[in-house]
Amino acid sequence: MTGAKAKNRTEVHMADDRRVFLITGAAGKTGRAGAELLLERGFTVRALVRQDDGRARALAAAGAETVVGDLLDLDDMSRALRGVSGAYFCYPIREGLLEATTVFAQAAVEAGVRSVVNMSQISARREAKSNAARQHWLGERLLDRTDLLTTHLRPTFFAAWLRDWWEYREGEGVLRLPFGRGRHAPITEIDQARVIAAVLADPEPHRRKTYTLHGPIEMDHYEIAKAMSRGLGMPVHYEPISVEEFAAAMTARGLSTHLVQHLSNVAVDYQRGIFAGTNDVIENIGGGGVPLTVEEYVTSRREDFRTSGPNFVPEPSG
Ligand SMILES: NC(=O)c1ccc[n+]([C@@H]2O[C@H](COP(=O)([O-])OP(=O)(O)OC[C@H]3O[C@@H](n4cnc5c(N)ncnc54)[C@H](OP(=O)(O)O)[C@@H]3O)[C@@H](O)[C@H]2O)c1
Repeated sequence: MTGAKAKNRTEVHMADDRRVFLITGAAGKTGRAGAELLLERGFTVRALVRQDDGRARALAAAGAETVVGDLLDLDDMSRALRGVSGAYFCYPIREGLLEATTVFAQAAVEAGVRSVVNMSQISARREAKSNAARQHWLGERLLDRTDLLTTHLRPTFFAAWLRDWWEYREGEGVLRLPFGRGRHAPITEIDQARVIAAVLADPEPHRRKTYTLHGPIEMDHYEIAKAMSRGLGMPVHYEPISVEEFAAAMTARGLSTHLVQHLSNVAVDYQRGIFAGTNDVIENIGGGGVPLTVEEYVTSRREDFRTSGPNFVPEPSG
C-alpha cells in the first residue's frame, strides 16, 4: 500500500470512530501529552482542566473540547463524562485522591462510560508508608470493584522530576536528592502518553491489568547526572542528602504537608529498590520505538535547564 493510501485509510477509520475520550488533568504532564497524542491520531478528546488559561486554550487550539471542572465535584464530573466512551483518570499528589476516585467512579458508572485508564504509581502498595501511595493502592481497588473496564498505570519517577529538582549554578547543574545509590529508569510523559492512548483506543485486552512503566535505562543518580551532563553539555553533579534534609527543604519551600509526607516516604522506598527496574511495556503496548533516554529528554529541553527548577534543595548556609 502506498503512503497516501495508508493515510487515507487511517483518516476514514478515524472519521468513523465516534467515541469521545475524556482526559482529566489535561493541563498537566501526562494528561496533556495523552490528549495531544489522541488528537494527532484523529480521536475526539474532551479535556478536563481546572481553569480556563493558556494551557486550556492550547488544548482547544489543538482540537480538544475543553471542560473546566473540579475532579472533586460530582456534578462537574457528571457533566464532563456525559457521552464518554473511555477516560484517563489522573489526580495530582494532593489531598483528596480517594474522594476524587469515588466521585469519578460514580459519575462514570452513571454516564455509562466503558473504560478507564487510572494513573497510579509504582510505590502503590497496601503496606506503603506514604499516604498518597497507599491511597493510590486503595483507589485501584475501588475502581476494580466497579463494572468499568479498568487498567492501572504504575510509573516509576518521571524524567520531568529531574527538571523540578534541578539547581543551575553558573554553567553547571546539581541534583541534591535523598536517593543514595537507589536506581530507576526515568520515564517521560511523552512515552506514557503512548500507553494511555493505546489502552483508551483498544481497552479490552487490558481489562484488569496493572502496568509498571519505566524508561529504557535503569540508573542511579550518579549515572543520571552523567547522562544529563552529556545531553546538556555542562557538568552535572549528584549530591546525596538525607531524607530529613530533603523534608526540611520541602517544608521551607512551602510544599504541602501531604507532598512532604509522600516524598519523604517514597525516598526510603526508592533507596530500597521499589522504583527500580525496566520493561518493554511502552514499546509493546504503546507501539513505536524504545522510550526516550534521559540524555535524549534533556537534549530536547535544553532551555528548561538554563535556570533552576522550582523545588531544588539549596546547600545549607553557613
Ligand atoms: N511525578 C512523578 O514522578 C510520578 C511518578 C509516578 C506516578 N505519578 C503520578 O502521576 C500523577 C500526576 O500526573 P501528572 O504529573 O501528569 O499530573 P500533573 O502534571 O501534576 O497535573 C495534574 C493536573 O491536575 C489538575 N488538577 C489538580 N487538582 C484538580 C482538581 N481538583 N480538579 C481538576 N483538575 C485538577 C492540575 O491543574 P492545575 O495545573 O491548574 O493545578 C494539573 O493540571 C499522580 O497521581 C502521581 O501519583 C507521578
